[in-house]
Amino acid sequence: MNADNTILGLGIETSCDETAAAVVRGGKEILSNCVFSQISLHKEYFGVVPEIASRAHLELINGIIEKALSDAGTSFANLSYVAVTHRPGLVGSLLIGMQSAKAISFACNIPLVAINHLEAHLYAPFLEGNELEFPYLGLLVSGGNTALYIVRDIGNMETVGKTADDAVGEAFDKVAKFLGLEYPGGPLIEKLAKSAIEKKIIFPKILPEPESGFRFSYSGIKTAVINFCKSNPNYPKEEIVYSFQERALEILVRRLFDAANIFKINRIVIAGGVAANSRLREMIEEQKKGNEIIAIPSARLCTDNAAMVAGLGYHYFIRGHYSPLATDVHARVVDNYITSMQT
Ligand code: KG4
Repeated sequence: MNADNTILGLGIETSCDETAAAVVRGGKEILSNCVFSQISLHKEYFGVVPEIASRAHLELINGIIEKALSDAGTSFANLSYVAVTHRPGLVGSLLIGMQSAKAISFACNIPLVAINHLEAHLYAPFLEGNELEFPYLGLLVSGGNTALYIVRDIGNMETVGKTADDAVGEAFDKVAKFLGLEYPGGPLIEKLAKSAIEKKIIFPKILPEPESGFRFSYSGIKTAVINFCKSNPNYPKEEIVYSFQERALEILVRRLFDAANIFKINRIVIAGGVAANSRLREMIEEQKKGNEIIAIPSARLCTDNAAMVAGLGYHYFIRGHYSPLATDVHARVVDNYITSMQT
């Protein structure tokens, strides 16, 4: 589909602990991408505190939206639509973005487009020159979600597999916390694992044979790491996190390529915070057969941002899939999600 280069959309993202706004042209070109990460506010709790997150969104949102418009060299008057994440996420946080978007939609008389955060993550690589073509396999790996989808069209995602318990990013964060590392643990574990020397795999494989479908599970490996640390208090941390990381990532790669093979889909998107992990990218390179078309966003678009919301919103906008001002926010997303028109 050719992008109409004149259409400007504002995206707003407040589903968790990033307050973000962005302006995207024609669904492809990022004119501005402003993200305020609240990590410093949540660090001491080793995770996101919902009440702190929503209060911070409330304080920051107007300034972030103004900055996104000014960085893009534009104003409210030039916008064609406003897209906002309405699910899944922390309800109090989602509400701040949603109410702001509704106010802009009403005041500027432009359509409101409610966006599924997970679908938006998978859209991120299409803001960096990759061609949007369906169907593709989408592996979403973040702090709140670990799932594999067949994405058939805009607003049409079939869930192939998901985690039975913790998300992969959550497991990185919990292991990091146990080892005394800061939040978020993923980037720190990745860095520390690089200094491992022995590289003896000490943890059991996740979901060994016989295994069921495309399920993921991370609570077992987390417990195995904790038990190991308790029994071996002096074992070098870099060796522990190396082994944890190998196990945590190898199942993702295996599920992904198994699905590509079984469903005969060679277009692949990997997105979400954990997709920034360089070892995951290395494993994908090592194990691909060569006929796959693999798109992974750059690190700044792997983690939460509003450019992905504005970019995906363009496709809803040009299809006339607008959301009414009565649109609600939702903590959860439904499996086999078909179109954000559901409000
Ligand atoms: O997508 P995201 O910004 O937020 C949501 O969870 O929606 O992802 C954040 C998660 C955190 O759990 C963080 O530890 C993890 O992504 N993460 C990483 C890396 N960078 C971020 N995990 C492993 N390796 C990384 N380099």
